[in-house]
Amino acid sequence: MGSDLASMPRLTRDLTEPEPIPEAGIARAVELMRSGRLFRYGEMGADQNDVALLEQEFAAFVGRRYCVAVNSGGAALCLALKVLDVRPGDPVLVNGFTLAPVPGAILHAGALPVLVEIGADYVIDCDDLRRKARASGARILLLSHMRGHIADMDAVMAACDELGLLLVEDCAHALCASWGGRTIGTFGAAAAFSAQTYKHLNAGEGGFLVLDDPDRAARAILHSGSYMLHGQHLSAPAPEVIAAWEEETPNFSMRMTALAAALLRPQLRDLPRRAARWNAIHDRIGRAIARSQHVRLPPRSPRERYSATSVQFSLLGFADDEIAAVLDLCAARGLPIKWFGAGRQRGFTSAPRHWRYAGEQGPMRQTHAVLAGLCDIRTPLSLTDEDCDLAAEVLREAIETVVSARAGTGETGRAATG
Ligand SMILES: Cc1ncc(COP(=O)(O)O)c(C=O)c1O
Repeated sequence: MGSDLASMPRLTRDLTEPEPIPEAGIARAVELMRSGRLFRYGEMGADQNDVALLEQEFAAFVGRRYCVAVNSGGAALCLALKVLDVRPGDPVLVNGFTLAPVPGAILHAGALPVLVEIGADYVIDCDDLRRKARASGARILLLSHMRGHIADMDAVMAACDELGLLLVEDCAHALCASWGGRTIGTFGAAAAFSAQTYKHLNAGEGGFLVLDDPDRAARAILHSGSYMLHGQHLSAPAPEVIAAWEEETPNFSMRMTALAAALLRPQLRDLPRRAARWNAIHDRIGRAIARSQHVRLPPRSPRERYSATSVQFSLLGFADDEIAAVLDLCAARGLPIKWFGAGRQRGFTSAPRHWRYAGEQGPMRQTHAVLAGLCDIRTPLSLTDEDCDLAAEVLREAIETVVSARAGTGETGRAATG
């Protein structure tokens, strides 16, 4: 098989390759570095303040009243919980298919994650949400739109109303997505976004909290660490609203740097074009891999407009060692695939059973059954249509190789899940 592999076409594109920063961002970053003014607050007017301008632009882009830019998506989630008055030890509901910084943000805020099962469509199971909300007495749901899979937001909002839950949206993978024509990030009391390199916007590190309530926005600005310089915010409630909270609100030093904002502003302007291309890449690979009877893409509602930067799919009916063999064959041909069912957590990919720090969560059987076959391909914008077709071919051929080997041994894999 080794020599066969060597003669087969390989993907030469590096799937970890981010987009370059637009020239306008580089030029502004150089200008800032020459001036040394990298801190967002300084002795300058708001009109020259890159972070304040970006906050204003981001709030308008998402369609919320206020935006506070911070140093990571995880920090934005933590701030959201703080301004919603989460107290030490409070339970916070969160869907089990998410990334480690999400339960991490709940713990950072002093609260305790209560994981909710997901269904075969990868999104939160609203029946389990009801059960866990009643059993825990939680008053907040942190809904992670993980990898841009959008839950039925009509059902989620109905459940939140019925259970008296405040919603925080984790939109780290959902910038530009919508449900029923309404932008994701505008459903809850607050929403958090990330600008870490492998997101829609890349500053290396960065995050945004968006919200509409003036008191909560004032507290977020103060918590983020505004050093009495909150007058330099352009996306902010009236100064007297902020002043009223000043002595109540500790500084957590979570600010975004001017340098990050300089890199992000031109990216935000170009985002609609980039998001359209990302979806085209997703759909091209998705359609091609779904032609394999061993692959299933989750169903998408016509009310969902997703905004993909990667492709997720389930491998159906494979044992763990067979999935590992499929992924090894793909990796040998230049196609790295992440797997949420892996025994060990690896680069960006983990599952509830790896989060012992989150406390006892019960078996989470449904979630683990879905994650057992759930795989993920990162899709940089540099992928051409030919790269997409080749990636799909590599995966389909790897699957066929493993299935044929199984036929040779008379084994049957495992019952299809997910
Ligand atoms: C689903 C999800 N939420 C939140 C975050 C946190 O973002 P950051 O890395 O900016 O803290 C990430 C980061 O990868 C993520 O994948």
